Amino acid sequence: MALGLAAFWALSEPRPLTAAELPAHTPDAANGKLLYSAAGCRSCHQPGPDLKDVDRSIPAGGAPFKTPVGTFYPRNLTPDPETGIGAWSDLAFVNAVQRGISPGGAHLVPALPYTSYAHMRTEDVLDIRAHLATLPPVSSPEREADLPAAFLTRRGIGLWKWIGLDTTPWQPEPSQTDSWNRGSYLVNGPGHCAECHTPRNLFMALDTSRAFAGGPHPEGEGRVPSLRGLIERGRYKDAKDIASALQYGEIMGYDKISSGGMGQVQRNISELPEADILAIGEYLASLKQ
Ligand code: HEC
Ligand code: HEC
Repeated sequence: MALGLAAFWALSEPRPLTAAELPAHTPDAANGKLLYSAAGCRSCHQPGPDLKDVDRSIPAGGAPFKTPVGTFYPRNLTPDPETGIGAWSDLAFVNAVQRGISPGGAHLVPALPYTSYAHMRTEDVLDIRAHLATLPPVSSPEREADLPAAFLTRRGIGLWKWIGLDTTPWQPEPSQTDSWNRGSYLVNGPGHCAECHTPRNLFMALDTSRAFAGGPHPEGEGRVPSLRGLIERGRYKDAKDIASALQYGEIMGYDKISSGGMGQVQRNISELPEADILAIGEYLASLKQ
């Protein structure tokens, strides 16, 4: 028993990135704005019901986000130094977004899709931070998550990370076109499409042997469709057609693109430059059944 506890303690300990691992980088807020849309940060960090005067597009935090383990109130991402992230170091920001570790050293739930963001270029994550720094600061105090047995759950996430968190950086596929690779990066890194579209194994880790094959919705209700064989199955004519669906959504007569969180994803993706949306279409069209 004592040995078991010691092992639990050692294995579940947070493993943050160190300052030496941060790349030297001059942040580019314009690139950060694009990736912030691709990553959909705004959808989960919306202003709470007590912030009626705050523009809905500002990630002031506090709106409830329900998960099967409890309800979270994803925090204020504006540069307010007291209640936002204005006073955070770059290292603290990168560790939260790419390793799921809070500045206080606690494990964050993977509802914040750091399992996908871990594959991003850290330079791109620093650019997102630079974009966030351009937003108006809003005061929006942190709200405690409604998480039963929070301490144990958070240490338990540390154990889960051994199997559920793969921190390998995204790699280009040299045999593919530049735009296919751009699409692959956007889908597998910031876009975190796998978090819903890839089924999970017994340990709730993404089952990469069945990447994008669809499955039960991770938030607990309904099913997520497969993104494999979208052309062969006649869902879309070609890569361009997939891109139009992502660009315009259901107003252009496409279906299966609005519910279960997909509507928000579609709106975020529609803000990307057309070349990037086409790149996502090209990548998805290549996923065979
Ligand atoms: C699908 C929903 C979702 C998306 C998308 C999302 N977050 Fe979050 N985020 C959360 C949740 C839930 C938490 C709270 C996690 C916890 O307390 O364990 C959180 C927490 C955080 C934290 C706080 C960590 C702390 O210690 O207080 C930061 C910083 C953060 N997110 C930044 C981002 C950024 C930047 C993006 C976009 C690149 C993003 N999030 C996208 C749901 C999301
Ligand atoms: C929050 C979970 C979630 C995330 C994240 C997500 N999707 Fe979806 N997606 C869904 C659901 C649920 C549906 C089905 C929606 C419906 O039936 O209205 C869907 C449907 C789709 C469809 C239509 C499939 C068909 O058969 O026509 C495409 C294409 C798609 N998603 C692409 C993406 C891409 C690309 C990303 C990443 C940028 C992504 N999704 C991220 C949940 C998600």
